[in-house]
This record gives sequence, structure tokens and C-alpha cells, in this order.
Amino acid sequence: MTKTYAVIGDPIDHSLSPALHNPAFAFLRLDCTYIAYRIPKGELDDGVKDLKKIGIAGFNVTIPHKIDMMRLLDEADEECKTVGATNTVVNTDGHLKGYNTDVDGFLDPIRKRKIDCKGSDVLLIGAGGAARAIVAGFAKEKVRKITVTNRTQERAEEIVRFARRLGLESEYLDLVKAGDTAANFRFIVNATSVGLKGMGCPISTKNITKDSIVYDIVYMPVETPLIQQSKEKRAVIIYGWEMLLAQAMKSFEIWTGVPAPYEAMKLTLLGRF
Ligand SMILES: NC(=O)c1ccc[n+]([C@@H]2O[C@H](COP(=O)([O-])OP(=O)(O)OC[C@H]3O[C@@H](n4cnc5c(N)ncnc54)[C@H](OP(=O)(O)O)[C@@H]3O)[C@@H](O)[C@H]2O)c1
Repeated sequence: MTKTYAVIGDPIDHSLSPALHNPAFAFLRLDCTYIAYRIPKGELDDGVKDLKKIGIAGFNVTIPHKIDMMRLLDEADEECKTVGATNTVVNTDGHLKGYNTDVDGFLDPIRKRKIDCKGSDVLLIGAGGAARAIVAGFAKEKVRKITVTNRTQERAEEIVRFARRLGLESEYLDLVKAGDTAANFRFIVNATSVGLKGMGCPISTKNITKDSIVYDIVYMPVETPLIQQSKEKRAVIIYGWEMLLAQAMKSFEIWTGVPAPYEAMKLTLLGRF
């Protein structure tokens, strides 16, 4: 019988996940299909009940349900518990197990480049849901310190406390000062939505150097203003699409138990941009 997978969230119509998973299923001749399913905020319980009714095999979870979904899980892996959010769920006869593939999905492009994070200083711009997975990832890789800057100070301070709970040094930095101090950090990671659709740069890039590693998790467009400007400074660049692809591949492997077809998924993803 065909297995059905889904991505749930709201809005969901522009999700790239169906375009990533369906070609991967076809490439490996797996009898599976993947749909985008809109569940508005406040309707998660009923939405998940409906998915169980149709015998959904598994689903991805995106904004605004990543945190709320935790309460509906029967079981959660360690990464989920650390971050307090899930993006991948497996349904085994009504038993829901959650995973968080954003953490290793974020780390994957760093590991592929054989960059050793240990002892590094990180400037993290942004303090939303993605920022927590990034902090959990850097904690796994034993960075020295994460400095968090964000438009809303309170949210940044929450991330600082989260990083400290994971055993890292961490402090808040005013967003207007972040550009001036950029040269003090090995990693500069944008986890805000600034740069989306090519609009704006989250910090001034004047002090980014060839020794900086600039990782922008915004993936639309591929070349955000932060990436364009950092390239001019000859910084090492890590693209948002790489994280998007890696977290999807990890979900795929959790569901199917077989290696995800990297080239096929990369081609369809980049073809979408
Ligand atoms: N590559 C990937 O696989 C991947 C994975 C997850 C997310 N993302 C992307 O990462 C971005 C953040 O996602 P999220 O889930 O963390 O979202 P979120 O929870 O809504 O957080 C949004 C973040 O962006 C900041 N922000 C929004 N508009 C801003 C503006 N005009 N000026 C300054 N800061 C602004 C927010 O600051 P405040 O706290 O001040 O509101 C907050 O830090 C999105 O663009 C998303 O598409 C990519």
C-alpha cells in the first residue's frame, strides 16, 4: 500500500518539501507520496487526529507548530527534548515519535567542509525557532561561546539562557554594534528572516574578513545580500539551501530507512530557485 507523508504548517503552499521528497521517492522507486497539509494555528490537535485517521506514515512540522507538536508526541528523541521542538514525526500504528533533524541538518554543511568548530566563537543573529536548533548544534560541536544579537533583546536573552543551559558561554550583543565586532567571530550565522526575497542584510558586513565563516540559513534567494557582500570579503560561505536539503534528507532516512538520494534531491531543489 502507498505510504503517505506530509508537511504540516501554516502557511504551507510555498513549502519546498513536497518537491524534495516526491522526486526522491520516485528516484528510489518507493511506493510513497508526500503532500502539503495546512493546519492553522490553534487547530493542531484536530489536524493531527485527522492525519492519524488517514494512516499517515510520517510528517514534517513547520511554523507555527514545531513547539506545540511536542505535546502530542508519544515519544521524543534526545534532540527534540534538547531543542523543545520537533520537525519530523513517525507514525507507527498511532504511536507518534518525534525527531529534530534541524540540528544535524544545520551541522551537515559544516561537517561536509571538514570545519572543526571546537573552541570557536560564534555570532548568532536571530532568536527564533531556528536559532535554538543552531545553538543545540553548536553545543554538540563544542564551540566556546555564542554571542546572540537580535532585533528584540528579550528573545535574544532567552537564547543566551538556553545556550548556557547547554554548557556554553553566551552573551547578548546589541544588533547595532554587531557589524563593528564581526571580525572577532569565526562563525557569523544569520538565523533571522532578513535577506528573504533579497531584502536587506541583517548586519553591516564592513568587518567581515576572509577568515570569517558566514552561514546564512535563509535559502530564498540562494545569494542573499549577506552572502553577496561576504563573498566580496572572500569569507567562507555556507548556503541556506544546504541546511534545507540536509534536514530533509535526514527526515527521509528516518522514514524510509534507506540513504536519501543527495544528487536527485539537490537537483530538484536548486531547480526550484
Ligand atoms: N535553511 C533552512 O533549512 C532553514 C530552517 C529553518 C528556518 N530557515 C529560515 O530561517 C529564518 C528564521 O526562521 P525561524 O523559524 O527561526 O523564524 P522565527 O521563529 O519567526 O524567527 C524570526 C527571526 O527573524 C527576526 N526578524 C524578522 N524580521 C526581522 C526584521 N525585519 N529585522 C530584524 N530581525 C527580524 C526575528 O527577530 P525578533 O525576535 O525581533 O522578531 C527573529 O529573530 C526564516 O527565513 C526561515 O525561512 C531556514
